[in-house]
Amino acid sequence: MAKLLKFPKGFYWGASTSSHQVEGGNKNDWSIWEKENAGRLANGARVYWQLWRRKSEFLPQAMDPANYISGKATDHYGRFREDFDIAKALGHNAHRLSIEWSRVEPSEGKFDDEEIEHYRTVISELKARGIEPFVTLFHFTLPIWVRSKGGWASRQTARDFAKYAERVVSELSPGVKYWITLNEPTLYSLVSNLGFGPWMEWPYVGGGYRGWFRMSSNLVAGHKGAHHAIKALNKSHQVGIAQSIVYFDAFGINPLSRLVVRSARRFYNHRFLKKIRKYQDFVGINYFTHNRIRVGLENPRRWFNHNENKEVSDLGWELYPEGIYKAVKEVSIYRKPIYITENGIADTRDLKRAKFIKDNLEWLHRAISDGADVRGYFHWSLLDNFEWGDGFWPKFGLVEIDYKNGLKRKVRQSAKEYAKIIKTNAVDAS
Ligand code: BGC
Repeated sequence: MAKLLKFPKGFYWGASTSSHQVEGGNKNDWSIWEKENAGRLANGARVYWQLWRRKSEFLPQAMDPANYISGKATDHYGRFREDFDIAKALGHNAHRLSIEWSRVEPSEGKFDDEEIEHYRTVISELKARGIEPFVTLFHFTLPIWVRSKGGWASRQTARDFAKYAERVVSELSPGVKYWITLNEPTLYSLVSNLGFGPWMEWPYVGGGYRGWFRMSSNLVAGHKGAHHAIKALNKSHQVGIAQSIVYFDAFGINPLSRLVVRSARRFYNHRFLKKIRKYQDFVGINYFTHNRIRVGLENPRRWFNHNENKEVSDLGWELYPEGIYKAVKEVSIYRKPIYITENGIADTRDLKRAKFIKDNLEWLHRAISDGADVRGYFHWSLLDNFEWGDGFWPKFGLVEIDYKNGLKRKVRQSAKEYAKIIKTNAVDAS
């Protein structure tokens, strides 16, 4: 017997992208770092750990320096209409994108009217297709002038960010109600300060633990400043962040493991959200996987990731759909509407994505049935894209990009399965 799990009326269904990962032609701190580091990344320990050991089919691409340079990316900057046509045909009624700060304000205090006009067109093309925009103001990339003043390691960036936010919001305001100030501020500040090494390759600031806390506090100030500017323009705007929520759990019975789990949850998942508690209208969750912790006598780095890994993505991340349920439960303490702002899988052959989506949505539905106020789901990502320090080889798209053939778009089968869910506003769990 069919068992239809119905989602709430008016639920937002869509996908996410970010400017630097899809637009192409950006000139920002990342594009500089990519060029300086491509050779090292191609030969690097990361390739060994992620791919060589697994004898992966992606090795040849990962060993090519060109993999690490965003370049034209998917040329979404030039082809956004075509991409939105696809999203509409798939039934999406919402879409998350980000504004590229380095385009809008290429030098300090000088805003580029043409670029603002570009984004105004992007928004109106979404609206014309009946797609509600969710707009992110910072998704990991900074204008070069901001980086040269210290980036988020400097308090000044919080002030500069608020000014940029005010300008963007006042220009794009009539068409946009939902604003996401920052993408994954905790992960960003953690990786920027502590994540150097084969595990996380990222433009390096390297401030250690103190640097992490300082940057995090600057990001809090940036969020608050932007929140203030947005609300001053229009009180009814909805403002939040997209927070990376990892479901941490303990492996084994060592009580110390449980203690570390609690600290990981407190610091990684909640610290930032608690600091901005009074300055957010909703909570955005980016959920990808869980992390089982086992404390032992070895280097603390080895306490993490004791996952079973029965089923993994191309990046080796365990597929753990019940984690989305637990993530939603965890952030329900804030008593705010929740949006899943990212959830996705690197799956080049598209063998696991459809099931991944269905499984995650079944668990999400369970959280809603338990009373969680979840109002939307954005799959990561609409398009294959530039996956930061991993470059182009991991494929997260509902839509495949044929990089060898004029960046042709091809809708994957899983995108069609997702479209069926959207059409019925329900998951068939029979
Ligand atoms: C980021 C995306 C990224 C995705 C997959 C999230 O942490 O917001 O930019 O592509 O994870 O790694």
